Amino acid sequence: MKKWYAVIGDPIAQSMSPAMHEEWFSDAGIDASYIPVHVREQDLSKAIESLKRLGCSGWNVTIPHKTAIIDLLDEIDTSARMMNAVNMVKVLEDGRLYGMNTDGHGFVRSLEEKYGTVGKGKNVLLIGAGGAAKGIAFALHEAGYGPIAITNRTLEKAELLSSDIEGASAIPLRDAEANLSNFGLIVQTTSVGMNFAKEGIPLQLMNVSAGTIVADIIYNPLRTEFLEQAESKGGLPLNGVGMFVHQGALSFEQWTGVYPNTKKMIRTITDQLG
Ligand code: ATR
Repeated sequence: MKKWYAVIGDPIAQSMSPAMHEEWFSDAGIDASYIPVHVREQDLSKAIESLKRLGCSGWNVTIPHKTAIIDLLDEIDTSARMMNAVNMVKVLEDGRLYGMNTDGHGFVRSLEEKYGTVGKGKNVLLIGAGGAAKGIAFALHEAGYGPIAITNRTLEKAELLSSDIEGASAIPLRDAEANLSNFGLIVQTTSVGMNFAKEGIPLQLMNVSAGTIVADIIYNPLRTEFLEQAESKGGLPLNGVGMFVHQGALSFEQWTGVYPNTKKMIRTITDQLG
């Protein structure tokens, strides 16, 4: 039987995942399909039952189900446990549901695809302390980056997150802003600057040093005000397209054993959004 995969969420029509995975299946010569499934918050458990019954082999999970789905799975990996969020599910051979979170590792892959390991051995500044920040902080730490300083509008949340990561510290936004030249890798994980609706910038970048890698996990718009300021100071930019593509590629690899062509996909999506 032809295998099929899905992405569930609400809203879902705008998702770029189906086109991305369909292209990768075709490139890999795998006869499988990937469809968007609109699942409202209150329908999640019924939807999971249906996906299982209809033989779906795995699916991605997006807003608003990333946390709620955990209770409906049989097992989750460490990243998902730490982030309290799942972005992909694999149906195991015995039918059990295994949930993972590939967002943090997707970020590290995207960083290294563009800049190699230039950021290693440098002080890292992470802006934000929500779910995305958590996954990225753990993945960076696991990959040997750091020490990591975490700054956030609500400092207590940065303190809480930093206490979970060896060698990490929390610093107030103003101190981070004043001492930006100490950091060789800066990662913006808040929603500030997203979709033009939340215009603005979480901190000013006038003190950033030329040659510092400055990443923003937002990909719509491709160039946030944060990245624009960084570039005007000679910072090396990284937008969120790579993280999106690599979290998908890591899902694809879990399902098929193949790591797909991410560079080509990043170009396609960048052209679409540009
Ligand atoms: P996600 O899972 O996408 O990370 P989240 O868990 O809601 O979402 O976290 C959102 C992050 O963006 C938090 O760090 C939040 O700061 P607070 O902890 O102070 O709420 C940050 N954030 C959201 N809106 C912000 C704003 N207008 N200014 C500064 N930070 C903001």
